[in-house]
This record gives sequence, structure tokens and C-alpha cells, in this order.
Amino acid sequence: MMIPFSTVLVIIFTIIVSPTIAIVVAQSLKSYRKKRNPKFPRGPMGWPLVGSTFSFFKPHHSSSIGHFMEQNLSRWWWYRRLFRNSLPAHFPKLVGNSSLVLLMGDAYRHKKAILLAFFNKFRLQAGFLHDIERLAGGLLASWSEGGVTYMTENANKFAFYVIVKKALGLTPEDPETEQLRKEFMALYKGLYALPINLPGYTHWKALKARAKVVKTIKKKLDERKAKGSGGEEDDLLGHVIKESTYTPENICDTILGFIFGGVATSSTALCLAVYFLQNCPKAREQMREEHLECMKSKEENGKGKLTWDDYKNMEFTQNVISETLRVGNVAPYVWKKATKDIEFKGYFIPEGTTVITYLAAVHLDSSAFENPEQFNPWRLNTKDVKKANNLLPFGGGVRQCMGSELARVELSIFLHNLILNYDWESVEPDHPVSIPLVSFPKDLPIRVRAVDHSL
Ligand code: HEM
Repeated sequence: MMIPFSTVLVIIFTIIVSPTIAIVVAQSLKSYRKKRNPKFPRGPMGWPLVGSTFSFFKPHHSSSIGHFMEQNLSRWWWYRRLFRNSLPAHFPKLVGNSSLVLLMGDAYRHKKAILLAFFNKFRLQAGFLHDIERLAGGLLASWSEGGVTYMTENANKFAFYVIVKKALGLTPEDPETEQLRKEFMALYKGLYALPINLPGYTHWKALKARAKVVKTIKKKLDERKAKGSGGEEDDLLGHVIKESTYTPENICDTILGFIFGGVATSSTALCLAVYFLQNCPKAREQMREEHLECMKSKEENGKGKLTWDDYKNMEFTQNVISETLRVGNVAPYVWKKATKDIEFKGYFIPEGTTVITYLAAVHLDSSAFENPEQFNPWRLNTKDVKKANNLLPFGGGVRQCMGSELARVELSIFLHNLILNYDWESVEPDHPVSIPLVSFPKDLPIRVRAVDHSL
């Protein structure tokens, strides 16, 4: 068989010439870097253009830091004020320029104050825990005994319903809620896809979804204004109307930023908790005892519903949640950028350099946690300062997560309802994979069985 000359050229180029060019460019970049800044921290340059992207994003178990990080990790503690948030260039188009994570300086401080006041306000509302309890109970009641339940879908619904109730006052029964969830998920997928704006691509679909989500938020805003009820509702939309002079676009970005912060994070954490408890019957039993005890005291005092004090008294449950976040690494790292030239321990980091703070490496540090990859909620019973310092699931400093308490409440209440009503087992093996966000390749299928506590 004759091979055309053009094909031979392509093969020669692909096999011999292109790797040669790649190696030459990589070598020259290395020497360029050494010449220009010999004090830059060492590490592989990887391939031209793509660098070490593929090694960095290689899927690995979420209870490990992955091969690339094992090879290239150095432990440094930075002064946080020397860094600012740094997100990929396509984020503003999807999240919105005025969303909190993208703001800096005075605009950031102003919006943060408004959001903090909202978080503190709803925490004190009696209805806050009951809303979450109702949403958890409603979802669990729809599970069929003996059938297969996909935990990722259920956790996503739960986290979305909680956030959208707080953001826009929407309930699962409202006609637009489910549609909004689907559009929001299409938008969310765009964050971690290549920003190719061509029909059919994830980024293109995400931009279309954003337009629909923004339209729904604007419609709600217009309805409130038409009713003349601007800031009377106790959701975030009402709060922002009342407390700010933001434009409608800015209000939409504020709401969208809030939804972005709270959906994928809490739902992944919930799946991880179900996964770790499923594989640790002893922890499941101890948790069940804690929640039965809680219910017994409620029946005795005739109050029935969960209160803020009940949540605060769920000590073992809080350890289960902390250990889930430590081993599961929902947000394995945060991207930051140097705000000025930094000289540190003989190294020199020029202004504008992107730095990844790898939270998962802190969580899986064997000098702080024995067998760090193992789920062991009892290890957090102590007041060990080193362990406490090594727990950073919500980041730290000025930019620390604003929804950490909300996430803990959501998980505690969902697990309270789950553990009191059901026992569950895995339908087929499925493990959390970090790519780099955590996901379950088979959507974590479980089979539930109702439990009878009178036996
Ligand atoms: C288990 C669940 C969650 C995890 C693991 C998590 C983790 C994080 C992390 C690591 C950061 C960045 C911190 C930094 O840069 O140092 C962050 C920021 C943020 N999170 Fe969360 N989060 C969770 C749930 C939530 C929830 C429920 C909300 C509610 C809306 C929320 C809202 C936010 C906001 C608004 C920010 C930006 C804060 C700022 O820039 O000042 N998060 N979160």
C-alpha cells in the first residue's frame, strides 16, 4: 500500500519534529526563567503553552493530593494580604463582574458588609432551620424503599432548594424552580470547561443558560418593584433592594454569586458525608444515637422541631462533618495572585504571579493527622491546636467562605433526617474523584431501607 507523501510529512512532523520543538522550547523557557529570576521557586515547566496542566488536572482519589502535587509540593505559610483572588479570565462572563468573588477594594468591602448582615439576620430567624428541615424531609419522603437513589442528584436538589429559598424566596413547588436549577447547572458546568464560544460547546451553553437565569432574577426584581414590596421579603433579593442602591445588573450578579457559592460545594460535601458514613457503620451508629437522644429530649419538652441549640449540641455530627471536609476536600485549592513583588525564604515571586494555595495538602499532612487518608471522626475530639490549624476546608483570612455555617447547618439537618429514617448501602462501588473538583463517576447510587426505632 502506498502512503501519500503529505501523510509521510505529517507523520514525520508529529513523531520527530514537534516533540523536538516542544523540548527545545521547554528548555529555552527553563533557561530564560533561570536567567531572569534564579530565585523563582523550582518546579517543572512542562510543555509549551499547556505547561503541566494535564499532570495537574489528572484525576485522583479526593483523599489524596495526586501524583503531580506529591512531586512538586513545598510547604510555605503566606501572608494572605500579599495575595488577592485570581480566577480564570472567562469567570466574569459567567458569574458576572459584580459578583463578590470578583470584586476588590471598596466595592468588595461594601458588598461583603451587605452580605454579612444578611447571613447574620437569617441565622437568627426561627423559620430558617425549619425551612431546611422541610426541604430535607420533602426530598427524603420521595425516596422509594428498596429502589436505587442517586445521591448526587438528590444532594444537588437539596442544596439548590435551600439557596434559592434564601436568595429569591422560591420553593420547590414554584413553577420556575426546577427549570432554574437546570439552567444554573448548565451555567455552572461552563466554569470548568474550555471557554470556546461555538454552538454546542459547554461554554456556549453556559452563556445561554446565564442569560435565562439573569432573566428569571430580573423578573423577580420587577415583580417586587411592581408590588411596591421592594425590601420587605426576608430573602437576599429583598435585603439587597433595601440595603443598597445597586443597579438591576449588579443585583443579579450579587444573587448569582450567592447561588454559585452555595450549591456545588454543599451538595458535594453532603455526598461525601453519605459516602464516608456508608463505609463506617460505627460512626453511623454513634450519630444515630446522638440524633435519637436529641429527638427524645424534644418529645419530652413537647417542642418537636429542631432549634439552633439542638444543632449546636450535635457534637459528634460536627466532627463527622469536619472529618468529611478534611478527607473529602470539596474545595482542594484556591487560586491567588501576588499583589506585589515578594521576597520570601530566599525565593522571589514577582507581582502578578498566580499561586495555588493547596488546602488538600494541609488536610492530608501526615505530621498532623495519622493515616490522613482514613475517615476517622473520633480524631477530632481533642483540642489539638495543630489539628485545628490544619483544618481549612473554608479557606482563611479576609476571603474565608461566608457560607461555612450555612453549609454545616444544611449537612447536619439533612443527615439528622436521613439517619433517623433510613439505613443505606451502596448499590455499586463508587468513589470520590478529584478532577480537580470532586465528583462521583456513578452519581453515588444507594439503596435505602426504613428504620424502626421502636424495636
Ligand atoms: C461545604 C461547603 C463549602 C465549602 C467547602 C466552601 C469553601 C469555600 C472556599 C475554600 C472559599 C474560598 C476561600 C478563600 O479564598 O480563602 C469560599 C468562598 C466563598 N463561599 Fe464557600 N464553601 C462552602 C459553602 C458555601 C455556602 C453554602 C455558601 C453560601 C452562599 C458559600 C459562599 C461563599 C462565598 C460568598 C465566598 C466568597 C467569599 C469572599 O470572596 O469574600 N459557600 N468557600
